[in-house]
This record gives sequence, structure tokens and C-alpha cells, in this order.
Amino acid sequence: MTVVQILLLAVPGVFMSTEKTIGQTRLLLSKGDITQVECEAIANAANSRLAGGGGVDGAIHRAGGPEIMAECKKIGHCPTGEAVITTAGRLRAQKVIHTVGPIYKGRPEDARLLTNCYTNSLELAAKHNLKTVAFPSISTGVYGYPLDQAAPVALKAVKKAVLNHPDSFTEIRFVLFGAESYEAYVRALQIL
Ligand code: APR
Repeated sequence: MTVVQILLLAVPGVFMSTEKTIGQTRLLLSKGDITQVECEAIANAANSRLAGGGGVDGAIHRAGGPEIMAECKKIGHCPTGEAVITTAGRLRAQKVIHTVGPIYKGRPEDARLLTNCYTNSLELAAKHNLKTVAFPSISTGVYGYPLDQAAPVALKAVKKAVLNHPDSFTEIRFVLFGAESYEAYVRALQIL
């Protein structure tokens, strides 16, 4: 290996893989806006009242239109770590899976609840035969979960769910908003 190659490898994000195959499922990291993604289902980082908000929640409701909120209102509530499913309105996806991440408090409970978000979202996707699913980085915005802690929890949860549902998913994608978020997931993927 040349000195230049060694230096490049030391720079985070350079030459680091951004996808892995788990069984028959492609696990992929990408940067961007989840509302623009063409997956059968996209996940939303919602709140337990399903009332909409800022961040990715606001972006999904704005881009998808009022039909999504109308269904959220009918459902009414979603406990932390659980997931519910609605139409995707005008989005390219067929369905939106709304899951409620934990508000970060620095307790072991946080990781358990964050794991549940991914596990329950994928259970719901499998039940609805949705084979391609996109996730944002749940809880790492308004809910304050540090990215370097959330990324490995998220990827491990997805890996476990994929192994439990070997025939259910062709692609699971994380759509990361911004370089910091993307790089945290790239680092976590290397040690998955
Ligand atoms: N596409 C992908 N990711 C996005 C987008 C987008 N369009 N917009 C924001 N994000 C990213 C944020 O940068 C962050 O990394 O989603 C991640 C999650 O951030 P939040 O949306 O703030 O979600 P969360 O931390 O789980 O907080 C949920 O915020 O908007 C409210 O109603 C929501 O009360 C709930 C709380």
C-alpha cells in the first residue's frame, strides 16, 4: 500500500463501504432527503401524539400532503418504541411507517427503545409485504440522541430484524440528512 493510500484510508468516509448485504437484503447508507426516496415504505420519526412537528416529521407531512395527517388523527397515539402505518399521500412511497423514538436521557432504556423503533417498523413492513424500506436517523434531531451512539444501535437492530425475516426485504436504506449523520452511520457500518 502506498503512503497516499494509507493517508486516504485514515480520512473518515474515504474508501469506507456504504453498503452491506445481509442474507438477501441490501443494507444501504445514503445522504439526502427521505421524502424524495423511491422505497415502498419510508419511516417517520414521529411523536407519540402523531401530531406532526419539525424535522423529518414536518418534511414528510409537507411533501405527502394532508391525507397522512388525516390517518394519523384516526390512529391517535403511538407509544415510544412502537410503530404505526399510514398512506404515503403524494409521496413516491406506498406507505409511511411512523415510529416514536426515545427522548435521549443517557439511560440503558434509550437503546432498548430505539432498537424497538426499528424492530417494530420492520415487523410492520414485513406484515404489509413492503420489501424496500427507508429510515431516517430516528431520535438524533429534536430528541437529542447522540449520533455516534444511535447509529450502531440502529444498524444492529436492522441487522437482527433482517436475520429474523430472511425473505422479507430486498433493500433497507438509511437516508441521512447531512454529512455528520452520514459519517456516523458509515463508521457504525464498518463494525456491524
Ligand atoms: N430526510 C431525512 N432525514 C431528515 C430530514 C429529511 N427530510 N429532515 C430531518 N432529518 C433528520 C435530522 O437531521 C435528524 O438526523 O432526521 C433525524 C431525526 O431528527 P428529527 O426529525 O428531529 O426526529 P427526532 O429526533 O426523532 O425527534 C422527533 O421531532 O419533529 C419532531 O414530531 C417530531 O416530536 C417529534 C420529534
